[in-house]
Amino acid sequence: MNSTADQVIVCKWNRDLIATLLEHTPEVYVILDDFDVEHMGPDWELLKGAAKVYRVGEFDSLEEVASVAADLALRGVSGDRVVSFTEFSQYGAGYLSTLLGDSADPLRHVAFRDKRLMKQRVAAAGIAVADWVGLPDRSDERDLAAVTGRLEFPVVVKPVAGAGTIGTFTVRSAEELAPRLSALDPIPFFKSRQLIAEEFVVGRELHVDALWDGDEPLFLVVSAYFVNVLSVLEGLKDSKAGTGTPLDGSYVISREDAPDLYQQVLDVHRDVNRALGIDRAVTHLELFEKPDGRLVFSEIATRLGGAYVGSMLTEVLGRDIFQVVGEGLFLGSLRETSGKHRYVGAVHLRPARPGRITSLPSEEEMLAIEGVQQAQRVARVGSVVDFSHPSEWCVFVILGTDTAEEFDALVARVGRELTVEVEPVD
Ligand SMILES: Nc1ncnc2c1ncn2[C@@H]1O[C@H](COP(=O)(O)OP(=O)(O)O)[C@@H](O)[C@H]1O
Ligand SMILES: [Mg+2]
Repeated sequence: MNSTADQVIVCKWNRDLIATLLEHTPEVYVILDDFDVEHMGPDWELLKGAAKVYRVGEFDSLEEVASVAADLALRGVSGDRVVSFTEFSQYGAGYLSTLLGDSADPLRHVAFRDKRLMKQRVAAAGIAVADWVGLPDRSDERDLAAVTGRLEFPVVVKPVAGAGTIGTFTVRSAEELAPRLSALDPIPFFKSRQLIAEEFVVGRELHVDALWDGDEPLFLVVSAYFVNVLSVLEGLKDSKAGTGTPLDGSYVISREDAPDLYQQVLDVHRDVNRALGIDRAVTHLELFEKPDGRLVFSEIATRLGGAYVGSMLTEVLGRDIFQVVGEGLFLGSLRETSGKHRYVGAVHLRPARPGRITSLPSEEEMLAIEGVQQAQRVARVGSVVDFSHPSEWCVFVILGTDTAEEFDALVARVGRELTVEVEPVD
């Protein structure tokens, strides 16, 4: 009989991850949602090798996730290893592990998503975080008064459990707060309407992508966004769009170039993991590096970074990131990984102004540029880009070079030569 240590529950479809897990154990239980089935083309042949495949409409449905939990419980499946790698399955996956008996703290997985609970727990462990105030009801004057009474402006306002900088904006003064909040449109991506306000932290914005087995990272990669993610679009809007696209994307900081930063990040990361109860997981941590070098916690997710981050990690590690994650999460160890290039980064190409896309660089054209390692067109001709948030992904270009000078030159060349053209939309 197989032991529970061989059992893995995977939330959502990813071929490389599921195939890798199936190489190690037949006890893979897969849960797909309607989006997977309708848009992601799951490989039903491969899935025949899984112990069971469940289908839910969406992971946010308590009823559907509870039914899956009940069936798994009847089969004697434990919730010790639930792998969820997208933002939209995180609450469902956490609820599932809680139901299947994994957590002594039923709020644990909520603290991986809700920015208030997350920050409260991290700050209680002595880690620096931006000063923040919850805004559970933006029509309640007392909630607004709590923000203006406590925080220094500018502040950043965002959904409590958002993602991708969607519905996130800067408010420059206390007077601006009420009008901005009352003008808010509902955000289709998220169900909760609760918001959080935070003091704006000035500094370089880092993202740290890691895979953990207890206190030890199986890999840990520190990168920096070219510019604060929120500022990319706010800067563009302020400049009346079209006067030039600020650089969007990020670059990996080479460990050899910055050993002290890596050590400092590792120390903070371990403290964050302990504060939140993160153990065997893949993580995407965001930090601000203040001008004096101090690190301020921004947020963490127990999943891979979105957009181009997975492809960037594939380049750094020299192996498909989903295979690496599957192997690391299952075995608690990794075979050798080593990328070909010391300097790796990603550029996101978006048009200089909102509109309907009329042309995009072809993948061949992008790959023909020396140093471009991967190129991915996410949008297509005819897609409308309205600049409503920074995660309207168009084209990802993954770069890899041997020297820092070549890297900077390549980033500039890609920004200059590869463009996404649009026409106005009525
Ligand atoms: N307190 C803050 N100070 C400065 N910039 C912030 C702050 N909070 C958020 N931002 C900017 O907004 C972006 C989105 O916020 P974040 O908390 O990462 O939410 P999410 O990624 O879940 O949408 C960040 O990447 C950062 O650029
Ligand atoms: Mg973020």
